Amino acid sequence: MTMELTQINQIKMVGVVGAGQMGNGIAQVLAQSDFNVCLMDVSEASLKKAVASIEKSLMKLFEKGKLPEHPPVILGRIKTTTHLADFKDCDFAIEAVSENEELKKSIFKQLDEILPAHAILASNTSSLPITRLASSTRRAGQFIGMHFMNPVPVMQLVEIIRGHATSENTYQVTKSLAEKAEKTTVCSQDYPGFIVNRILMPMINEAFFTLMEGIATPEDIDAGMKLGTNQPMGPLTLADFIGLDTCLAIMKVLHEGLGDSKYRPCPLLKKYVDAGYLGRKTGRGVYSY
Ligand code: CAA
Repeated sequence: MTMELTQINQIKMVGVVGAGQMGNGIAQVLAQSDFNVCLMDVSEASLKKAVASIEKSLMKLFEKGKLPEHPPVILGRIKTTTHLADFKDCDFAIEAVSENEELKKSIFKQLDEILPAHAILASNTSSLPITRLASSTRRAGQFIGMHFMNPVPVMQLVEIIRGHATSENTYQVTKSLAEKAEKTTVCSQDYPGFIVNRILMPMINEAFFTLMEGIATPEDIDAGMKLGTNQPMGPLTLADFIGLDTCLAIMKVLHEGLGDSKYRPCPLLKKYVDAGYLGRKTGRGVYSY
């Protein structure tokens, strides 16, 4: 008899670890799709901020007629906690904490102990190897990457990453979960940057080289790409939106993992990060906010 979850309708409760921008967006889209969600963070203040941000986003969507239910009904499906032990009845857990491998591994080790044997564990990592994270658990077959895009409530994509041991069943259930949350999925093998960041980050890095070499102003680089290639934001604006520290960390993963000098992080990107210019979140990145 298999202990694995085989059907999407067996998922009654989803646990989300980390109530930052990604975690709260993930909790929101799951609650919108009728799942009960348990959102965990170590800090009460982060949980409070997350609920306020979900409320604001739901109101925006409701006012535009894009929600089938009133925001308080959706919000009622999200409970918050500061204890991972409250995930004991979760059938699926998604980790969305900061990109620190040791932290993620320690969380997965605990989730492996706490969640029922049938449950699937997923990471929203943007660049750490799924196979390596899975090895911190005893259920590598039920371990997968589920990479949401920011801002989660409006971006259509979920990139699903199959680790070395991920079972076909785990992949199918995860795909159904993302689809039930009204996302479109793509499937990637577990190689540095997966699909989206493998292609997006070298473009952003190249925009920094373009700036560093004095080829154009930030405004012209962004307008060139926005108006010339129909992107919603220019690459430098997008870098500020994502966070320059995140962009740099992903470039390092590509450079180390693929070993090709074409992925070397731009020195100007490094310098901004050294200066604490991390983008919108610090009020200063390539641009001032
Ligand atoms: N909740 C609900 N609605 C939201 C929202 C949220 N959190 N954020 C934005 N919106 C809505 C706005 O209300 C607005 O709706 P209407 O068009 O109906 O008025 C719509 O989205 C557009 O927003 P804005 O008018 O404020 O601004 P915009 O037109 O520039 O759109 C954007 C904002 C959706 C972020 C758009 O600029 C965009 O798509 N940018 C690119 C984002 C992107 O590439 N994300 C991926 C980053 S990479 C990543 O996430 C992976 C990684 O690992 C780094």
